[in-house]
Amino acid sequence: MRLGFVGTGAITEAIVSGLLGSDLTLGSILVSPRNADVAARLAAASPLVAIAANNQDVVDGSDMVFLAIRPQVAEGVVRELRFRPDQHIVSLIAATDHRALSEWIGADLRLTRAIPLPFVAERTGVTALYPADAAVSALFNALGSAIEANSEEEYQLLGAASALMGTYFGILEISTRWLEAKGMPYPQAKTYLAPLFASLAQTAARPDAPDFATLRSEFSTKGGLNEQVFVDFAGKGGATALTEALDGVLARIQGR
Ligand SMILES: NC(=O)c1ccc[n+]([C@@H]2O[C@H](COP(=O)([O-])OP(=O)(O)OC[C@H]3O[C@@H](n4cnc5c(N)ncnc54)[C@H](OP(=O)(O)O)[C@@H]3O)[C@@H](O)[C@H]2O)c1
Repeated sequence: MRLGFVGTGAITEAIVSGLLGSDLTLGSILVSPRNADVAARLAAASPLVAIAANNQDVVDGSDMVFLAIRPQVAEGVVRELRFRPDQHIVSLIAATDHRALSEWIGADLRLTRAIPLPFVAERTGVTALYPADAAVSALFNALGSAIEANSEEEYQLLGAASALMGTYFGILEISTRWLEAKGMPYPQAKTYLAPLFASLAQTAARPDAPDFATLRSEFSTKGGLNEQVFVDFAGKGGATALTEALDGVLARIQGR
């Protein structure tokens, strides 16, 4: 399988780095020349990676073409490309649906959308994809795990959920700044909170973990400090703010 990447930025670097360290048997990997620094780094990392002269060369030299450009430039880039009928296209472009992509491509080719996360570089990323596709699932399973959405709506919901990464770090930052304001040096607060949150995430991801409400209850003594913080947080608008933020990002994904 010859893989091609149109757009050689952060997510392409993560995917290609993950692939190069994976157990998959890889054919050639062709990346487009922009960004030049990222393309050069990837080409230096393995003889399997080559830098194409331009975007059309990527398409011409690959069987599975990843579209990894930003949404703002996507239409202009994709409309200029000529694809072969036998080609498989994997679009990573956020908030851009199947209909728009097919129109820009100018044909109804085999097309899968996916939401890889930066953790694919370490082969620990969960990747949502739609529609179900065995080849794309196999590739992303080698980079962590693949989740096949059962419908367009489900895929959009996973896209909204994937937008929580900044909020995760935002909660850590707000909490760390609070500790700092109370007199603790920022580095010490960070050294405490980062592993605490990492342990919580590992607990939540265990295959035998119960639902999150049960975990919250298990980690909150009745009448204790953890219960107090959550009741306070939820009661003072925290739960509503989070729910409305998810509603807002879903509306954006759905073009509303
Ligand atoms: N980063 C993530 O975690 C992530 C996760 C899932 C999906 N995505 C999606 O993946 C896409 C890429 O995201 P990213 O984070 O990798 O963005 P990025 O780091 O900005 O990479 C985009 C790349 O596209 C290049 N580019 C710009 N115009 C181009 C053109 N006309 N032809 C070819 N390449 C061009 C840019 O090159 P220059 O640097 O030279 O401008 C840049 O290297 C986006 O649609 C994003 O929504 C990203």
